[in-house]
Order: sequence, then C-alpha cells, then structure tokens
Amino acid sequence: MYHIDIMTLFPDTVGDVLSESILGRAQERDILRIDTHQIRDYTVNKQKQVDDYPYGGGRGAVLQADPLYRCWEHICARYDKRPHTIFLSPCGKTFTQADAKRLAWEQDHLILVCGHYEGVDQRFIDECVDEEISLGDFVLTGGEIAAMAVADAVCRLVPGVLSDAECFENESHWDGLLEYPQYSRPAVWHGREIPEVLSTGDHAKIERWRRKQSILRTRQRRPDLFEKLDLSSKADQKLLAELERELSRPPLPQPVECRLAQELDLDDMEVILEQAKALLVPIGQWNADYPAREDFLADMARGECYVLTCGGRVGGFFTLSARPEEGYAAITDGKWSADEPYAVIHRCAIASQWRGSGLADRMIGACEELASGLGIGWLRVDTHKKNKAMQGLIRRHGFQYRGNVLVDAPPGSDCRRAAYEKRLRHPLPNVKKNF
Ligand SMILES: C[S@@+](CC[C@H](N)C(=O)[O-])C[C@H]1O[C@@H](n2cnc3c(N)ncnc32)[C@H](O)[C@@H]1O
Repeated sequence: MYHIDIMTLFPDTVGDVLSESILGRAQERDILRIDTHQIRDYTVNKQKQVDDYPYGGGRGAVLQADPLYRCWEHICARYDKRPHTIFLSPCGKTFTQADAKRLAWEQDHLILVCGHYEGVDQRFIDECVDEEISLGDFVLTGGEIAAMAVADAVCRLVPGVLSDAECFENESHWDGLLEYPQYSRPAVWHGREIPEVLSTGDHAKIERWRRKQSILRTRQRRPDLFEKLDLSSKADQKLLAELERELSRPPLPQPVECRLAQELDLDDMEVILEQAKALLVPIGQWNADYPAREDFLADMARGECYVLTCGGRVGGFFTLSARPEEGYAAITDGKWSADEPYAVIHRCAIASQWRGSGLADRMIGACEELASGLGIGWLRVDTHKKNKAMQGLIRRHGFQYRGNVLVDAPPGSDCRRAAYEKRLRHPLPNVKKNF
C-alpha cells in the first residue's frame, strides 16, 4: 500500500478533497492510504499557537520548528523506515510529471509538509526535509493546494489506482508531448463539427492525426518541451515535414467566404483559370479551349458556379451541380456505393498564390455544406489519373475511389477519369454554415 501523510493546519479540507472520486475509491480498496495531521495538536502551549515573529524583524509570522518536528516525529514513529519528506515551497524545484513518476515508483511513503504564514523555520527544513517542491512560480497562502496537487498527481500513477497504464501513458507530459484535442458526443455542437478523421473508424489514421496534433500543440504552446523531443523516427519526420509545409503557408486574408459567382467575377476567374491550365493542360485534364468563359457563364446561368473570396478578392472557383452526370452511370472497374441523389464538383481551381494555404480545403468544405444544405447525401467528383494534387485533396477529405468514368474530351485526348465519392455526414436542409 502507498502511504501519504500530510502535515497541515487544515487537515479536514485536505482530507475531504483527497478522499473523493478515484483517490477515495483507491483508499477503500487499500491501494492507498492518505492521512492528514493537524500541526496544532503537537504544540505544548495552551493556545495551540504554532507561529511566532521572525528573528531579525519583518512582517508576518513563521511556523515554528518544534510543533512541526513533533508532528513529523510522531508520523515517523509509525513506520520502520524514515518516510521521504517533502516541504511544499515556492523556493523548491518546480513539480513535473517526471517528479510524479519518480515519487510514485521509487517511494512508497511520503510526508508532505504544508507551510503557512511567511514560511517555516529553516532548521526544521534542514533537519527533516528531503526535498522542496514548488507548484510553480507564484505564491500561495499555504502549502495545502500544492500538497493536494502533488498527492493527486503521484497517487494516480500508483499501480492499481487507475484501471490501466494506458490511462496515463497517452496523457500530456508523459513522453514530453502535450495531449491532442479531445472530443465527445454530439458530433456537431453549436455548429462546430468534430475533426472528420475521428469518425472514420480507421485507427491508424486516427493515431497519426493525434500524434500530429500533439506535436503541433507542443511546438506552438511549449517550445521549451518541443526542443527536447526525439522526433527522429521516419513517421515523425514525415509528420514534421507536413507540419512545416502547413505552417509556412501564407495566411489567407480574412474573411474567407463562398458565394455564387457573378459575371463581374469573370475577369478574376480567368486569371485563375490560366494558372490552373498551366498545370492541367499538360496532363490532359483540360485543354486550351476548355473550360472557357462560356462554360462559366452557362454554370452561372444555372446557379451552379461559386467563387471563394479571401479578404474580398476572388481566390478560387468551382461548379457544384445536382444534376445527374451522364457518363457516371457507366462507371467501370468498380461501382458507386448507392443509387441515390448526388452533387458533382466540376471546373474548380485555386489561385496559384493561395495553393497550399488551405483554401482548397475550404472549397471542399463549401461543396459539402452546399450539397448537405440541399439535403443531398453524396458528393462525387472525377479527375484525371495524373492529377495527383486533386486526388490528394479529395482523399484527405475522405473521398473514396470508386472506378473509372468517361467524360467529353476533345478528339485524341484521354477521356478516362478516376471517379470518387464521399458520403456526407449531415445531409440536412439548411444546416448551419460554418464555412
Ligand atoms: C505565503 S507562502 C510563504 C512564501 C515565502 N515567504 C516566500 O516568499 O517564499 C506560505 C506557504 O505557502 C506554501 N506555498 C506558497 N507558494 C507555493 C508554491 N508555489 N508551491 C508550493 N508551496 C507554496 C508554502 O508551504 C509556504 O510556506
């Protein structure tokens, strides 16, 4: 059994807190024993006074060595071996998870001494205390909160207190990392969705996402911890490279918005179109004449053409159509998951200056919200096999490859396209837009 004795002027408060919940149950199961001791009970004066003026003058009072020593001696007398004694003090070493581990696994009995007033007579510390621990670089009125924090952090690492080691092995500070963000039900709360990967059921992907979030958090919030991390494994190096790329993206001018395109946007759209053609014509997805102004005008007339604006400027465009696509019925080398209404993404491009900025992710998010808003449960898209950027983007958003389809293409050019689909999670009309 692991023992903790706490010397304090407020034994009831400390005892009450430490006998609640997990630590209370561990004491009932005899895994732990936490006793509190009233320092005043070890005085020899009628008033049970434990403090006196500081030698040398100055404000306040000091806890005297003698009552502390008597209390400490009384506790020690109950055990065969002198317990490891800790004085909680702002002058001590700052407490860390590594200290909690060391105290839980290398000791089986602690005495925690809570100071009060201006502090404790140094001679008691010199004679009885093995180490001084601080809760942080601030000053509390007494050592009780610090003692409760230390006792709690140590006790939960004592074998048997938590149901299994996994409970604390994945937590912040276990291996130098901060924990990833956590989510629970419902999947949408106040219009905020949980990260999509968490509902895929793909455990490897979820683990990867969690590790990446942990590394990111540690880097952003605790550069001191980040510097000490060993991220030399191949997998971590890959995550780091991904993070580097993401963090070096230029910030998108705000607000980022999605709206129906208007004829006035056509000039801006054409600039982006030419940038996209420089990439897509050589691989055969688009050609010099397609898409053209007329295609966008036709999309606009049907109310299917959208622009993404960043800080008021057009940064990308796409067409989203809820009309069935002719070539899709004749899918080969696979099949669609369901014969249900779907929306199709066509003719999309992002301005070259905003590639890699996250705007393409916003575009996919906007397509999903628009389709969901129409009560449509499926999103489909086709792309050229050589268009790796598009396939990377849609796969990242959970689209799955379903087979090949044929599209209208100029004579002599490749008309086969890889067909992808995604099941939308909330195909409800008028879902709140958090784009
Ligand atoms: C008001 S404080 C005394 C501070 C002391 N005069 C000083 O300047 O270092 C009274 C008691 O609260 C406890 N205490 C205050 N801040 C603490 C901290 N950061 N960590 C642990 N214990 C603390 C100590 O037991 C201390 O003796």
